[in-house]
Amino acid sequence: MGYTAEEAEGRPVIAILNSWSDLSQCHTHFPQRVEEVKRGVWQAGGFPLEIPVLAVSEMFMKPTAMLYRNLLAMEVEEVLRSHPVDGAVLMGGCDKTVPGLLMGAISADLPAVFLPAGPMLAGRYRDERLGSGTDVWKYWAQRQAGCLEACVWRQLEEGIARSAGTCMTMGTASTLASITETLGMTLPGAATIPAVHSAHSRMASRCGRRAVEMVWEDLRPSKILTAGAFDNAIVADMAIAGSTNAIVHLLALAGRAGVSLSLDRFDQLSRSTPTFVNLRPAGEYLMEDLHDAGGIPAVLSRIRHLLNLDCQTVTGHSLGENIANAEVINPKVILPLDTPLSPTGGTFVLHGTLAPDGCVIKLTAADPKLLKHTGRAVVFDSYPDMKARIDDPASGITAEDILVLRNAGPLGGPGMPEWGMLPIPKPLLEQGVRDMVRISDARMSGTSYGTCVLHVAPESAAGGPLAAIQTGDMVALDVEARRLDLLVDEAEIARRLAEWQPPAAPARGYRRLNAEQVTQANLGCDYRFLERGAGPAAEEDPAIF
Ligand code: FES
Repeated sequence: MGYTAEEAEGRPVIAILNSWSDLSQCHTHFPQRVEEVKRGVWQAGGFPLEIPVLAVSEMFMKPTAMLYRNLLAMEVEEVLRSHPVDGAVLMGGCDKTVPGLLMGAISADLPAVFLPAGPMLAGRYRDERLGSGTDVWKYWAQRQAGCLEACVWRQLEEGIARSAGTCMTMGTASTLASITETLGMTLPGAATIPAVHSAHSRMASRCGRRAVEMVWEDLRPSKILTAGAFDNAIVADMAIAGSTNAIVHLLALAGRAGVSLSLDRFDQLSRSTPTFVNLRPAGEYLMEDLHDAGGIPAVLSRIRHLLNLDCQTVTGHSLGENIANAEVINPKVILPLDTPLSPTGGTFVLHGTLAPDGCVIKLTAADPKLLKHTGRAVVFDSYPDMKARIDDPASGITAEDILVLRNAGPLGGPGMPEWGMLPIPKPLLEQGVRDMVRISDARMSGTSYGTCVLHVAPESAAGGPLAAIQTGDMVALDVEARRLDLLVDEAEIARRLAEWQPPAAPARGYRRLNAEQVTQANLGCDYRFLERGAGPAAEEDPAIF
Protein backbone atom coordinates (compact mmCIF):
# COMPACT_ATOMS: atom_id res chain seq x y z
CA MET A 1 0.00 0.00 0.00
CA GLY A 2 3.01 2.25 0.00
CA TYR A 3 3.23 3.13 3.69
CA THR A 4 6.40 2.85 5.74
CA ALA A 5 6.24 0.98 9.02
CA GLU A 6 6.89 4.26 10.85
CA GLU A 7 3.76 5.79 9.29
CA ALA A 8 1.51 3.03 10.63
CA GLU A 9 3.02 1.47 13.73
CA GLY A 10 1.55 2.39 17.08
CA ARG A 11 -1.13 4.60 15.60
CA PRO A 12 -4.85 4.04 16.13
CA VAL A 13 -6.36 2.97 12.83
CA ILE A 14 -9.40 5.08 12.04
CA ALA A 15 -11.89 3.79 9.49
CA ILE A 16 -13.62 6.59 7.64
CA LEU A 17 -16.90 5.01 6.62
CA ASN A 18 -18.05 7.03 3.63
CA SER A 19 -21.60 6.48 2.35
CA TRP A 20 -20.84 8.23 -0.96
CA SER A 21 -21.54 7.23 -4.55
CA ASP A 22 -22.35 8.99 -7.79
CA LEU A 23 -25.99 8.28 -6.92
CA SER A 24 -25.95 9.73 -3.40
CA GLN A 25 -27.06 13.21 -4.37
CA CYS A 26 -26.75 14.62 -0.85
CA HIS A 27 -23.13 13.49 -0.35
CA THR A 28 -21.43 15.01 -3.38
CA HIS A 29 -18.99 16.92 -1.15
CA PHE A 30 -17.85 13.79 0.72
CA PRO A 31 -14.77 13.05 -1.43
CA GLN A 32 -13.28 16.37 -0.26
CA ARG A 33 -14.48 15.86 3.32
CA VAL A 34 -12.73 12.48 3.49
CA GLU A 35 -9.42 14.24 2.82
CA GLU A 36 -10.21 16.70 5.61
CA VAL A 37 -11.06 13.91 8.05
CA LYS A 38 -7.80 12.20 7.12
CA ARG A 39 -5.93 15.43 7.77
CA GLY A 40 -7.37 15.47 11.30
CA VAL A 41 -6.55 11.81 11.91
CA TRP A 42 -2.92 12.30 10.85
CA GLN A 43 -2.63 15.44 12.97
CA ALA A 44 -3.74 13.53 16.07
CA GLY A 45 -1.33 10.67 15.46
CA GLY A 46 -3.76 8.21 13.91
CA PHE A 47 -3.75 6.22 10.71
CA PRO A 48 -6.76 6.95 8.46
CA LEU A 49 -8.31 4.54 6.01
CA GLU A 50 -11.33 5.39 3.90
CA ILE A 51 -13.78 2.50 3.56
CA PRO A 52 -16.75 3.06 1.24
CA VAL A 53 -20.05 1.68 2.48
CA LEU A 54 -23.48 1.42 0.87
CA ALA A 55 -24.71 4.83 -0.27
CA VAL A 56 -28.39 4.60 0.60
CA SER A 57 -29.80 7.21 -1.73
CA GLU A 58 -33.21 8.53 -0.73
CA MET A 59 -34.05 9.68 -4.24
CA PHE A 60 -32.85 6.81 -6.36
CA MET A 61 -33.55 3.55 -4.50
CA LYS A 62 -36.78 1.69 -5.16
CA PRO A 63 -39.18 0.81 -3.66
CA THR A 64 -37.61 2.83 -0.84
CA ALA A 65 -34.22 3.53 0.69
CA MET A 66 -35.66 2.32 3.99
CA LEU A 67 -35.56 -1.26 2.73
CA TYR A 68 -31.77 -0.93 2.65
CA ARG A 69 -31.17 0.81 5.99
CA ASN A 70 -30.62 -2.55 7.66
CA LEU A 71 -28.34 -3.72 4.85
CA LEU A 72 -26.11 -0.69 5.49
CA ALA A 73 -26.22 -1.43 9.23
CA MET A 74 -25.13 -5.02 8.61
CA GLU A 75 -22.31 -3.87 6.33
CA VAL A 76 -21.05 -1.27 8.81
CA GLU A 77 -21.05 -3.74 11.70
CA GLU A 78 -19.14 -6.36 9.77
CA VAL A 79 -16.71 -3.89 8.17
CA LEU A 80 -15.79 -2.58 11.62
CA ARG A 81 -15.66 -6.05 13.12
CA SER A 82 -13.68 -7.78 10.40
CA HIS A 83 -11.03 -5.19 9.59
CA PRO A 84 -8.07 -4.18 11.77
CA VAL A 85 -9.50 -0.84 12.85
CA ASP A 86 -9.65 0.81 16.26
CA GLY A 87 -12.19 3.57 15.74
CA ALA A 88 -14.35 5.18 13.11
CA VAL A 89 -15.65 8.41 11.63
CA LEU A 90 -19.14 7.79 10.26
CA MET A 91 -19.98 9.95 7.25
CA GLY A 92 -23.64 10.13 6.34
CA GLY A 93 -26.57 12.47 6.11
CA CYS A 94 -29.18 11.44 3.56
CA ASP A 95 -32.06 10.00 5.56
CA LYS A 96 -31.33 6.29 5.99
CA THR A 97 -27.56 6.60 6.05
CA VAL A 98 -27.65 8.14 9.55
CA PRO A 99 -29.49 5.32 11.35
CA GLY A 100 -27.81 2.68 9.17
CA LEU A 101 -24.31 3.86 10.09
CA LEU A 102 -25.23 4.31 13.74
CA MET A 103 -26.94 0.93 14.10
CA GLY A 104 -23.89 -0.86 12.70
CA ALA A 105 -21.47 1.18 14.82
CA ILE A 106 -23.50 0.51 17.97
CA SER A 107 -23.39 -3.22 17.34
CA ALA A 108 -19.65 -3.16 16.60
CA ASP A 109 -19.14 -0.88 19.63
CA LEU A 110 -15.86 0.67 18.54
CA PRO A 111 -15.15 4.33 19.36
CA ALA A 112 -17.01 6.29 16.68
CA VAL A 113 -17.95 9.88 15.93
CA PHE A 114 -20.59 10.89 13.41
CA LEU A 115 -19.99 13.58 10.77
CA PRO A 116 -23.36 14.71 9.36
CA ALA A 117 -23.36 15.72 5.70
CA GLY A 118 -24.94 19.05 6.60
CA PRO A 119 -27.91 20.71 4.94
CA MET A 120 -27.77 22.18 1.45
CA LEU A 121 -28.14 25.92 0.94
CA ALA A 122 -31.64 27.39 1.12
CA GLY A 123 -33.53 27.03 -2.16
CA ARG A 124 -34.39 30.01 -4.35
CA TYR A 125 -37.09 30.85 -6.85
CA ARG A 126 -37.09 34.53 -7.86
CA ASP A 127 -37.23 36.32 -4.49
CA GLU A 128 -38.76 33.36 -2.65
CA ARG A 129 -36.86 30.96 -0.40
CA LEU A 130 -37.69 27.34 -1.13
CA GLY A 131 -37.54 24.44 1.30
CA SER A 132 -36.73 20.89 0.21
CA GLY A 133 -39.75 18.68 -0.19
CA THR A 134 -42.13 21.00 1.64
CA ASP A 135 -42.30 23.50 -1.23
CA VAL A 136 -42.28 20.70 -3.78
CA TRP A 137 -45.47 19.26 -2.29
CA LYS A 138 -47.03 22.72 -2.11
CA TYR A 139 -46.30 23.66 -5.71
CA TRP A 140 -47.03 20.14 -7.00
CA ALA A 141 -50.55 20.45 -5.60
CA GLN A 142 -50.88 23.75 -7.48
CA ARG A 143 -49.54 22.15 -10.65
CA GLN A 144 -52.02 19.28 -10.31
CA ALA A 145 -54.82 21.80 -9.82
CA GLY A 146 -53.79 23.46 -13.11
CA CYS A 147 -52.50 26.66 -11.50
CA LEU A 148 -48.79 26.39 -12.38
CA GLU A 149 -47.08 26.47 -15.80
CA ALA A 150 -44.55 23.77 -16.74
CA CYS A 151 -41.80 26.38 -17.20
CA VAL A 152 -42.33 27.71 -13.66
CA TRP A 153 -42.24 24.17 -12.31
CA ARG A 154 -38.89 23.66 -14.07
CA GLN A 155 -37.48 26.86 -12.54
CA LEU A 156 -38.64 25.69 -9.11
CA GLU A 157 -36.91 22.36 -9.67
CA GLU A 158 -33.69 24.07 -10.65
CA GLY A 159 -33.73 26.48 -7.73
CA ILE A 160 -34.62 24.12 -4.91
CA ALA A 161 -31.35 22.18 -4.68
CA ARG A 162 -28.51 24.71 -4.97
CA SER A 163 -25.62 22.80 -3.44
CA ALA A 164 -24.34 19.57 -1.97
CA GLY A 165 -25.99 18.56 1.29
CA THR A 166 -29.17 17.13 2.69
CA CYS A 167 -32.74 18.46 2.53
CA MET A 168 -32.66 21.79 4.37
CA THR A 169 -36.12 21.77 5.91
CA MET A 170 -36.67 19.92 9.20
CA GLY A 171 -37.16 16.74 7.21
CA THR A 172 -35.84 13.35 8.12
CA ALA A 173 -32.17 14.12 7.41
CA SER A 174 -32.15 17.30 9.50
CA THR A 175 -34.11 15.56 12.24
CA LEU A 176 -31.74 12.61 12.33
CA ALA A 177 -28.67 14.87 12.38
CA SER A 178 -30.20 16.89 15.24
CA ILE A 179 -31.05 13.87 17.35
CA THR A 180 -27.66 12.28 16.63
CA GLU A 181 -26.07 15.42 18.05
CA THR A 182 -28.42 15.27 21.04
CA LEU A 183 -27.61 11.60 21.59
CA GLY A 184 -24.00 12.72 21.98
CA MET A 185 -22.68 11.02 18.84
CA THR A 186 -21.53 14.18 17.00
CA LEU A 187 -19.33 17.04 18.07
CA PRO A 188 -21.38 20.05 19.29
CA GLY A 189 -22.88 22.11 16.50
CA ALA A 190 -22.23 19.54 13.77
CA ALA A 191 -25.86 18.86 12.84
CA THR A 192 -26.67 22.21 11.28
CA ILE A 193 -23.48 23.35 9.52
CA PRO A 194 -24.37 23.84 5.84
CA ALA A 195 -22.61 21.24 3.71
CA VAL A 196 -20.67 23.80 1.67
CA HIS A 197 -19.77 26.12 4.57
CA SER A 198 -16.03 26.26 5.33
CA ALA A 199 -17.01 25.36 8.91
CA HIS A 200 -18.03 21.97 7.56
CA SER A 201 -14.46 21.33 6.43
CA ARG A 202 -13.18 22.36 9.84
CA MET A 203 -15.72 20.04 11.49
CA ALA A 204 -14.48 17.18 9.30
CA SER A 205 -10.87 17.55 10.44
CA ARG A 206 -12.02 17.94 14.06
CA CYS A 207 -13.89 14.64 13.75
CA GLY A 208 -10.71 12.99 12.51
CA ARG A 209 -8.71 14.31 15.47
CA ARG A 210 -11.40 13.42 17.96
CA ALA A 211 -11.76 9.84 16.67
CA VAL A 212 -8.08 9.22 17.48
CA GLU A 213 -8.48 10.64 20.98
CA MET A 214 -11.60 8.54 21.55
CA VAL A 215 -9.63 5.37 20.80
CA TRP A 216 -7.07 6.25 23.51
CA GLU A 217 -9.96 7.06 25.88
CA ASP A 218 -11.81 3.85 24.91
CA LEU A 219 -14.96 5.96 24.51
CA ARG A 220 -17.43 3.60 22.82
CA PRO A 221 -21.10 4.03 21.82
CA SER A 222 -22.10 1.76 24.71
CA LYS A 223 -20.82 4.44 27.12
CA ILE A 224 -22.85 7.17 25.38
CA LEU A 225 -26.15 5.62 24.32
CA THR A 226 -27.99 5.21 27.60
CA ALA A 227 -31.71 5.41 28.36
CA GLY A 228 -31.16 9.05 29.38
CA ALA A 229 -29.54 9.84 26.03
CA PHE A 230 -32.54 8.38 24.19
CA ASP A 231 -34.94 10.44 26.29
CA ASN A 232 -32.88 13.51 25.38
CA ALA A 233 -33.13 12.62 21.70
CA ILE A 234 -36.91 12.22 21.91
CA VAL A 235 -37.25 15.57 23.70
CA ALA A 236 -35.16 17.22 20.98
CA ASP A 237 -37.23 15.50 18.29
CA MET A 238 -40.38 16.99 19.78
CA ALA A 239 -38.85 20.44 20.24
CA ILE A 240 -37.82 20.66 16.58
CA ALA A 241 -41.10 19.17 15.22
CA GLY A 242 -38.96 16.40 13.80
CA SER A 243 -39.86 13.88 11.16
CA THR A 244 -42.07 10.94 12.16
CA ASN A 245 -39.34 8.75 10.67
CA ALA A 246 -37.20 9.55 13.70
CA ILE A 247 -39.49 7.39 15.81
CA VAL A 248 -38.81 4.25 13.78
CA HIS A 249 -35.07 4.91 13.71
CA LEU A 250 -34.76 5.75 17.41
CA LEU A 251 -36.60 2.53 18.28
CA ALA A 252 -34.12 0.60 16.12
CA LEU A 253 -31.10 2.40 17.60
CA ALA A 254 -32.33 1.74 21.12
CA GLY A 255 -32.81 -1.92 20.25
CA ARG A 256 -29.18 -2.11 19.11
CA ALA A 257 -27.99 -0.29 22.23
CA GLY A 258 -29.92 -2.62 24.52
CA VAL A 259 -32.06 0.25 25.82
CA SER A 260 -35.71 -0.53 26.48
CA LEU A 261 -37.77 2.02 24.54
CA SER A 262 -41.43 1.85 23.58
CA LEU A 263 -43.63 3.88 21.27
CA ASP A 264 -45.52 5.20 24.28
CA ARG A 265 -42.39 6.93 25.59
CA PHE A 266 -42.58 9.27 22.58
CA ASP A 267 -46.12 10.24 23.49
CA GLN A 268 -45.20 10.77 27.16
CA LEU A 269 -42.34 13.11 26.30
CA SER A 270 -44.39 14.80 23.60
CA ARG A 271 -46.93 15.89 26.22
CA SER A 272 -44.27 17.73 28.24
CA THR A 273 -42.11 19.20 25.47
CA PRO A 274 -43.03 22.37 23.58
CA THR A 275 -42.31 22.70 19.87
CA PHE A 276 -40.28 25.87 19.53
CA VAL A 277 -37.91 25.48 16.59
CA ASN A 278 -39.49 27.48 13.80
CA LEU A 279 -38.45 25.48 10.74
CA ARG A 280 -40.48 24.27 7.78
CA PRO A 281 -42.64 22.27 7.36
CA ALA A 282 -44.05 23.13 10.82
CA GLY A 283 -42.70 26.68 10.83
CA GLU A 284 -41.01 29.25 8.66
CA TYR A 285 -37.22 28.99 8.47
CA LEU A 286 -34.58 26.63 7.06
CA MET A 287 -31.55 24.80 8.40
CA GLU A 288 -28.94 27.46 7.66
CA ASP A 289 -31.11 29.86 9.69
CA LEU A 290 -31.06 27.37 12.57
CA HIS A 291 -27.29 27.15 12.27
CA ASP A 292 -26.94 30.94 12.38
CA ALA A 293 -29.35 31.04 15.33
CA GLY A 294 -27.02 28.90 17.43
CA GLY A 295 -27.74 25.38 16.18
CA ILE A 296 -28.69 22.41 18.29
CA PRO A 297 -26.63 23.53 21.34
CA ALA A 298 -28.78 26.67 21.48
CA VAL A 299 -31.98 24.63 21.07
CA LEU A 300 -30.95 22.33 23.91
CA SER A 301 -29.96 25.24 26.10
CA ARG A 302 -33.61 26.41 25.99
CA ILE A 303 -34.78 23.12 27.54
CA ARG A 304 -32.01 22.23 29.95
CA HIS A 305 -34.69 21.47 32.54
CA LEU A 306 -36.09 18.68 30.33
CA LEU A 307 -32.76 16.99 29.59
CA ASN A 308 -30.47 14.49 31.28
CA LEU A 309 -27.46 16.79 31.28
CA ASP A 310 -25.00 14.28 32.71
CA CYS A 311 -25.12 12.01 29.65
CA GLN A 312 -21.70 11.27 28.20
CA THR A 313 -20.91 12.44 24.62
CA VAL A 314 -18.19 11.94 22.03
CA THR A 315 -16.43 15.06 23.29
CA GLY A 316 -15.53 13.21 26.48
CA HIS A 317 -17.70 15.73 28.32
CA SER A 318 -21.33 15.61 29.37
CA LEU A 319 -24.16 17.08 27.32
CA GLY A 320 -24.57 19.72 30.01
CA GLU A 321 -20.90 20.73 29.69
CA ASN A 322 -21.18 20.83 25.90
CA ILE A 323 -24.07 23.31 25.96
CA ALA A 324 -22.92 25.35 28.98
CA ASN A 325 -22.04 28.38 26.85
CA ALA A 326 -24.67 27.93 24.15
CA GLU A 327 -26.63 31.01 23.22
CA VAL A 328 -29.79 31.62 21.21
CA ILE A 329 -28.75 34.21 18.65
CA ASN A 330 -32.04 34.53 16.77
CA PRO A 331 -35.23 34.07 18.82
CA LYS A 332 -37.35 34.18 15.66
CA VAL A 333 -35.87 30.82 14.69
CA ILE A 334 -35.45 29.31 18.16
CA LEU A 335 -38.59 30.71 19.74
CA PRO A 336 -38.89 31.63 23.42
CA LEU A 337 -40.65 28.94 25.45
CA ASP A 338 -43.53 31.27 26.31
CA THR A 339 -44.39 31.70 22.60
CA PRO A 340 -43.73 28.28 21.06
CA LEU A 341 -45.15 26.93 17.82
CA SER A 342 -47.07 24.46 19.96
CA PRO A 343 -47.19 23.86 23.72
CA THR A 344 -46.69 20.14 23.10
CA GLY A 345 -44.37 18.07 20.95
CA GLY A 346 -44.84 17.60 17.25
CA THR A 347 -45.76 13.92 17.21
CA PHE A 348 -48.51 11.98 18.98
CA VAL A 349 -48.95 8.23 19.32
CA LEU A 350 -52.44 6.79 18.85
CA HIS A 351 -53.95 3.38 19.55
CA GLY A 352 -57.33 1.87 18.76
CA THR A 353 -59.12 -0.95 17.00
CA LEU A 354 -57.49 0.01 13.70
CA ALA A 355 -53.99 0.17 15.22
CA PRO A 356 -53.75 -2.13 18.26
CA ASP A 357 -49.95 -1.77 18.43
CA GLY A 358 -49.98 1.93 17.70
CA CYS A 359 -49.59 4.52 14.97
CA VAL A 360 -48.35 8.09 14.82
CA ILE A 361 -49.50 11.49 13.61
CA LYS A 362 -47.45 14.63 13.16
CA LEU A 363 -49.61 17.21 14.84
CA THR A 364 -47.72 20.22 13.55
CA ALA A 365 -48.24 19.11 9.94
CA ALA A 366 -51.99 18.50 10.27
CA ASP A 367 -55.05 20.69 9.76
CA PRO A 368 -56.37 21.32 13.31
CA LYS A 369 -59.95 21.00 12.01
CA LEU A 370 -59.32 17.37 11.08
CA LEU A 371 -57.80 16.19 14.35
CA LYS A 372 -61.20 14.94 15.47
CA HIS A 373 -62.95 13.48 12.47
CA THR A 374 -65.23 10.57 11.62
CA GLY A 375 -65.56 9.66 7.97
CA ARG A 376 -66.16 7.01 5.37
CA ALA A 377 -63.10 4.98 4.45
CA VAL A 378 -61.99 4.88 0.83
CA VAL A 379 -59.57 1.96 0.71
CA PHE A 380 -56.68 1.41 -1.68
CA ASP A 381 -55.13 -2.06 -1.66
CA SER A 382 -51.71 -0.94 -2.81
CA TYR A 383 -49.80 2.08 -4.09
CA PRO A 384 -50.42 1.15 -7.76
CA ASP A 385 -54.14 0.78 -6.96
CA MET A 386 -54.12 4.22 -5.36
CA LYS A 387 -52.30 5.78 -8.35
CA ALA A 388 -54.78 4.20 -10.76
CA ARG A 389 -57.94 5.37 -8.99
CA ILE A 390 -57.22 8.44 -6.87
CA ASP A 391 -57.88 11.06 -9.55
CA ASP A 392 -60.87 9.36 -11.18
CA PRO A 393 -63.62 12.01 -11.37
CA ALA A 394 -66.21 9.20 -11.09
CA SER A 395 -64.80 7.93 -7.76
CA GLY A 396 -67.23 10.00 -5.71
CA ILE A 397 -64.55 10.75 -3.08
CA THR A 398 -65.46 13.76 -0.95
CA ALA A 399 -63.33 15.94 1.30
CA GLU A 400 -64.98 14.34 4.37
CA ASP A 401 -63.87 10.83 3.35
CA ILE A 402 -60.81 9.17 4.87
CA LEU A 403 -58.23 7.84 2.40
CA VAL A 404 -56.76 4.50 3.48
CA LEU A 405 -53.68 2.88 1.93
CA ARG A 406 -52.60 -0.62 2.93
CA ASN A 407 -49.83 -3.06 1.94
CA ALA A 408 -47.31 -0.26 2.38
CA GLY A 409 -45.65 -1.36 5.64
CA PRO A 410 -42.28 -2.98 6.45
CA LEU A 411 -43.45 -6.26 4.88
CA GLY A 412 -46.04 -4.96 2.45
CA GLY A 413 -44.07 -2.12 0.80
CA PRO A 414 -41.65 -3.76 1.31
CA GLY A 415 -39.57 -1.37 3.40
CA MET A 416 -42.42 0.92 4.47
CA PRO A 417 -42.11 3.49 1.68
CA GLU A 418 -42.96 7.15 2.18
CA TRP A 419 -46.39 6.79 0.63
CA GLY A 420 -48.30 7.99 3.70
CA MET A 421 -49.04 11.48 2.36
CA LEU A 422 -51.58 10.15 -0.14
CA PRO A 423 -52.29 12.81 -2.77
CA ILE A 424 -55.52 14.75 -2.52
CA PRO A 425 -57.74 13.60 -5.44
CA LYS A 426 -57.41 15.99 -8.38
CA PRO A 427 -61.14 16.81 -8.53
CA LEU A 428 -60.96 17.93 -4.88
CA LEU A 429 -57.74 19.90 -5.49
CA GLU A 430 -59.58 21.81 -8.21
CA GLN A 431 -62.26 22.64 -5.63
CA GLY A 432 -59.57 24.06 -3.32
CA VAL A 433 -59.30 21.12 -0.90
CA ARG A 434 -55.73 20.91 0.45
CA ASP A 435 -55.98 18.41 3.34
CA MET A 436 -57.90 15.25 4.21
CA VAL A 437 -57.48 12.53 6.81
CA ARG A 438 -55.23 9.84 5.42
CA ILE A 439 -54.32 6.54 7.10
CA SER A 440 -51.69 3.98 6.14
CA ASP A 441 -49.09 1.52 7.35
CA ALA A 442 -46.53 3.53 5.34
CA ARG A 443 -44.16 6.28 6.46
CA MET A 444 -44.19 9.90 5.30
CA SER A 445 -41.35 12.15 4.25
CA GLY A 446 -40.28 14.47 7.04
CA THR A 447 -40.78 17.36 4.61
CA SER A 448 -44.44 16.46 4.07
CA TYR A 449 -47.54 17.81 5.72
CA GLY A 450 -51.20 16.90 6.07
CA THR A 451 -53.44 15.02 8.47
CA CYS A 452 -51.69 11.72 7.85
CA VAL A 453 -51.91 8.84 10.31
CA LEU A 454 -48.83 6.72 9.73
CA HIS A 455 -46.99 3.55 10.81
CA VAL A 456 -50.22 1.64 11.60
CA ALA A 457 -49.18 -1.52 13.44
CA PRO A 458 -49.59 -4.34 12.90
CA GLU A 459 -49.48 -3.57 9.20
CA SER A 460 -51.99 -5.09 6.77
CA ALA A 461 -49.46 -7.53 5.27
CA ALA A 462 -48.97 -8.93 8.78
CA GLY A 463 -52.72 -9.42 9.24
CA GLY A 464 -53.46 -6.27 11.21
CA PRO A 465 -57.00 -4.83 11.23
CA LEU A 466 -55.96 -2.62 8.31
CA ALA A 467 -56.26 -5.81 6.22
CA ALA A 468 -59.95 -6.01 7.14
CA ILE A 469 -61.13 -2.48 6.44
CA GLN A 470 -63.39 -2.00 3.40
CA THR A 471 -64.51 1.06 1.45
CA GLY A 472 -67.65 2.37 3.12
CA ASP A 473 -66.60 1.45 6.69
CA MET A 474 -66.63 4.35 9.12
CA VAL A 475 -63.38 5.35 10.86
CA ALA A 476 -63.02 7.67 13.85
CA LEU A 477 -59.87 9.71 14.47
CA ASP A 478 -59.59 11.52 17.80
CA VAL A 479 -56.08 12.84 18.29
CA GLU A 480 -56.70 14.40 21.68
CA ALA A 481 -57.96 11.05 23.00
CA ARG A 482 -55.08 9.35 21.12
CA ARG A 483 -57.56 7.02 19.37
CA LEU A 484 -57.94 5.56 15.88
CA ASP A 485 -60.93 3.24 15.61
CA LEU A 486 -62.60 1.21 12.93
CA LEU A 487 -66.32 1.52 13.65
CA VAL A 488 -67.13 -2.01 12.61
CA ASP A 489 -68.37 -4.77 14.87
CA GLU A 490 -65.50 -6.80 16.37
CA ALA A 491 -67.00 -10.10 15.18
CA GLU A 492 -67.22 -8.74 11.63
CA ILE A 493 -63.56 -7.66 11.74
CA ALA A 494 -62.61 -11.13 12.98
CA ARG A 495 -64.69 -12.74 10.21
CA ARG A 496 -62.96 -10.68 7.54
CA LEU A 497 -59.51 -11.41 8.96
CA ALA A 498 -60.27 -15.14 9.03
CA GLU A 499 -60.76 -14.95 5.25
CA TRP A 500 -57.61 -12.86 4.72
CA GLN A 501 -54.66 -14.46 2.92
CA PRO A 502 -51.10 -13.24 3.64
CA PRO A 503 -49.08 -12.10 0.62
CA ALA A 504 -46.63 -14.62 -0.85
CA ALA A 505 -43.11 -14.31 0.59
CA PRO A 506 -40.34 -13.30 -1.84
CA ALA A 507 -38.59 -16.39 -3.23
CA ARG A 508 -35.00 -15.42 -2.52
CA GLY A 509 -32.38 -12.83 -1.72
CA TYR A 510 -32.41 -9.77 0.45
CA ARG A 511 -36.16 -9.25 0.14
CA ARG A 512 -36.69 -12.75 1.53
CA LEU A 513 -34.44 -11.93 4.48
CA ASN A 514 -36.48 -8.77 5.03
CA ALA A 515 -39.75 -10.72 4.91
CA GLU A 516 -38.48 -13.25 7.43
CA GLN A 517 -36.79 -10.89 9.86
CA VAL A 518 -38.20 -7.37 9.82
CA THR A 519 -40.06 -6.18 12.91
CA GLN A 520 -43.11 -3.94 12.83
CA ALA A 521 -43.00 -0.14 12.88
CA ASN A 522 -43.71 0.09 16.61
CA LEU A 523 -40.52 -1.91 17.21
CA GLY A 524 -38.23 -0.07 14.79
CA CYS A 525 -38.18 -2.32 11.68
CA ASP A 526 -34.79 -3.80 12.54
CA TYR A 527 -34.07 -7.44 11.80
CA ARG A 528 -34.75 -9.74 14.74
CA PHE A 529 -31.38 -11.47 14.52
CA LEU A 530 -29.56 -8.12 14.71
CA GLU A 531 -31.15 -6.77 17.85
CA ARG A 532 -28.99 -6.82 20.93
CA GLY A 533 -29.00 -10.24 22.53
CA ALA A 534 -29.82 -11.97 19.26
CA GLY A 535 -26.22 -12.86 18.37
CA PRO A 536 -22.65 -12.73 19.65
CA ALA A 537 -21.44 -9.30 20.72
CA ALA A 538 -18.35 -7.91 19.03
CA GLU A 539 -16.22 -8.49 22.08
CA GLU A 540 -17.01 -12.21 22.00
CA ASP A 541 -15.31 -12.62 18.63
CA PRO A 542 -11.86 -14.18 18.63
CA ALA A 543 -9.19 -11.49 18.99
CA ILE A 544 -7.27 -11.84 15.73
CA PHE A 545 -5.81 -8.38 15.34
FE1 FES B 1 -31.06 13.16 0.87
FE2 FES B 1 -33.41 14.55 1.41
S1 FES B 1 -32.84 13.41 -0.38
S2 FES B 1 -31.66 14.21 2.64
